[in-house]
Amino acid sequence: MMARYAEITGWGKALPPVVLTNSDLELIVDTSDQWITSRSGIKERRISHVPASDMAELAARRAVAAAGIAMEEVDLIVNATCTPESIIPASASYVQAKLGAVNAGAIDVNANCSGFVYGYVMADSLVRSGAAGAVLLVGVERLSWLVDYTDRSTCILFGDGAGAVVVQASATPAGVLASELGVDGTMADILCVPNDGTIEPGSASSVTRLVMEGSDVFRRAVTAMADASESVVRQAGWDLDDIDLLVPHQANQRIIDATARRLKLDSARVFLNIHAYGNTSAATIPIALTEAIEAGRVPSRGNLVFAAFGGGLTWAAAAVRFGERVEPVGVIEDELPKSDQTVWELIQPNFDYYGRLERQ
Ligand code: ACO
Repeated sequence: MMARYAEITGWGKALPPVVLTNSDLELIVDTSDQWITSRSGIKERRISHVPASDMAELAARRAVAAAGIAMEEVDLIVNATCTPESIIPASASYVQAKLGAVNAGAIDVNANCSGFVYGYVMADSLVRSGAAGAVLLVGVERLSWLVDYTDRSTCILFGDGAGAVVVQASATPAGVLASELGVDGTMADILCVPNDGTIEPGSASSVTRLVMEGSDVFRRAVTAMADASESVVRQAGWDLDDIDLLVPHQANQRIIDATARRLKLDSARVFLNIHAYGNTSAATIPIALTEAIEAGRVPSRGNLVFAAFGGGLTWAAAAVRFGERVEPVGVIEDELPKSDQTVWELIQPNFDYYGRLERQ
């Protein structure tokens, strides 16, 4: 029997048009462009005026067009997100309906910022085993829903966006060569949304708000991302020189730099776009991968490392052999609609930053 591999055959992204800059944040919290840039690498992020499933839909349509398949050929939609539109149904159902993917199953995966890599390793395994022929894997977040825009330690970091890939059965040797999926659930409360869900029934907070012990998360992220990346490179049997491109989760440029130093990668072999979008959690890697391919930085059959870290506390890495084709079969020209709301109208209206804005 011919060997069966799982190749990434399509890719796409969707970023909402409204931008929240560091200078905007200077108006509502005690911070500066200089502090944010030097501590995180972030200059601006996007804030969505459309539901997450609209961003997911556009990224997914682009990925399916790039793969050159019909929507009816998608067997499974895996929607990686920690900002679902609802608990019942899972957000994946909205995405399936908007896409008209009538032959697909659909499921959400929540591993926070590691969700895309978790979803990718599962998609690759399902395709290689024969359980699915084509998996549409989306990473999508509307983190502006969870962010407290009066908390300077978190509001500088996060943004909204979506990215997607198609993982398809292939005779070309490609896909996951080695992977590591990890978690330390005992430390989950250093990055969480307290009092939400069924943890204390009846106590759901009126304000859904992400809280984080930033410097503790930072230290753990540096170690976990670098360790996991090194481990998958070793398991894949690669030398460090064999890596063509690290496509890391974009949470903080200093975390990425530390991982790159461990893998002895110069900047030409690390993909960075954190300055433009901040941390979009499960969406960062598929957005970064799409931009890397479009910029010609993913060689045909190239050796890639995906690495992520996030709430849970989860981490994940994969050593990936990319497929033959690095040009899209088809391109979708549609864009998300323009917003008629300002950035101030879009960011979490539950928090009292309006008083500060009026005083400026
Ligand atoms: N502007 C100015 N000063 C600030 C700001 C700000 N926006 N935020 C914090 N500070 C201050 C602090 O109050 C502190 O002041 P003090 O020394 O007087 O007490 C000082 O700056 C240093 O604060 P730290 O938190 O130690 O700063 P650090 O260098 O660690 O940077 C950051 C903070 C950027 C948040 C960093 O810790 C980080 O990136 N953490 C990891 C985030 C992450 O990766 N999250 C995981 C994914 S999220 C998910 O899964 C959904």
